[in-house]
Amino acid sequence: MMIKESRIKNTLTRQLNQKSLQRIRAAVQSLKIDIGQPANDARAVKANSAAKKSNRVNAGYLLPEFDQILAAQTLPRAKYYIRRLIRSLSEKKTGAANDLNLHRWKEYEDILTDSLWIVEKRDTSGAHQGGYWGNFIPQIPNQFLRRYTKKGEWVLDAFLGSGTTLIECKRLGRNGVGVELQGRVARTASKTIGREDNPSSSRTEIIVGDSTRLDFQSELSKRKIKSVQFLMMHPPYWDIVKFSSKKRDLSNAKTMDEFLQLLGDIVDATYPVLDQNRYFALVIGDKYSGGNWIPLGFFAMQEVLKRGYILKSIIIKNFDETKGKRNQKELWRYRALAGGFYIFKHEYIFLFKKR
Ligand SMILES: C[S@@+](CC[C@H](N)C(=O)[O-])C[C@H]1O[C@@H](n2cnc3c(N)ncnc32)[C@H](O)[C@@H]1O
Repeated sequence: MMIKESRIKNTLTRQLNQKSLQRIRAAVQSLKIDIGQPANDARAVKANSAAKKSNRVNAGYLLPEFDQILAAQTLPRAKYYIRRLIRSLSEKKTGAANDLNLHRWKEYEDILTDSLWIVEKRDTSGAHQGGYWGNFIPQIPNQFLRRYTKKGEWVLDAFLGSGTTLIECKRLGRNGVGVELQGRVARTASKTIGREDNPSSSRTEIIVGDSTRLDFQSELSKRKIKSVQFLMMHPPYWDIVKFSSKKRDLSNAKTMDEFLQLLGDIVDATYPVLDQNRYFALVIGDKYSGGNWIPLGFFAMQEVLKRGYILKSIIIKNFDETKGKRNQKELWRYRALAGGFYIFKHEYIFLFKKR
């Protein structure tokens, strides 16, 4: 349940003149009864997003704060907690690269802060279709855009694919620019992105081109974009999925060195357009070849680290079984037991910051 922020603030402010701890407790207790307990986590998360849209505040955030006031043993202590709560409801303390109100950090229950991401189900709401072979789940850009960008800022995705990042941009009020090598794929993405609501009139720009050779600065300035504030890359995992027969497609690199060189070229080409102290997420997995586990992810990470970025996090994310593997689960398990290897169930998200 949610109640209006102003009502809570008024009641709390009145308590600052109280001389009796008992009376303060009675007032806070009655606020607590008013807001009630959220029934379960799912409802709390829903209440959260509704709370953000209005000047209402959700119970999941307030209850522990009220309990702390109720547990205070002295009048000054109770008033200290009250003042702190009033401040958190009145003032905004945002991070340098996001709009999250750190005074109300407890409200962001669905923002991940651990390095292990187990996401059970793909978000298929709105324009997200999930049909593109080799796409990522929308939760990945969603998490990063909310933590590392502010409303109205620009996000660049150098491997647009089906446009998952740009759909999330529209949804979250960020502007998005995406580059895709294949014209047909880019056109389909453009239509899909067009189906998503655009509540903040965000801009979407799609460039058909080769990210390894693109002059990002001039392409952006043609579109009156000075720079970007977040960079997303979800390249092919070398040749695991062949995206096209085009020579410049990273999935057609003949060797791993060539693949890493091309990826490095894109990191170099995009570097000048990302603002200082801003973030870059690289989503990539490993591969098997000739009976060897090839740590493609770590090699790719090294390429980025050579180029003026610092590493902020390595996230391990659970990996959806591909349709083919799901049908052959038993066979793969047998192969793993017989061949002495483990079946891939994870991929990496490397988070970098521009120095
Ligand atoms: C792993 S997919 C990206 C999927 C995307 N994140 C999504 O959710 O749909 C990689 C994409 O990069 C594109 N690609 C490959 N080489 C490229 C290059 N040199 N420049 C631009 N795009 C390229 C492929 O056509 C493919 O669509």
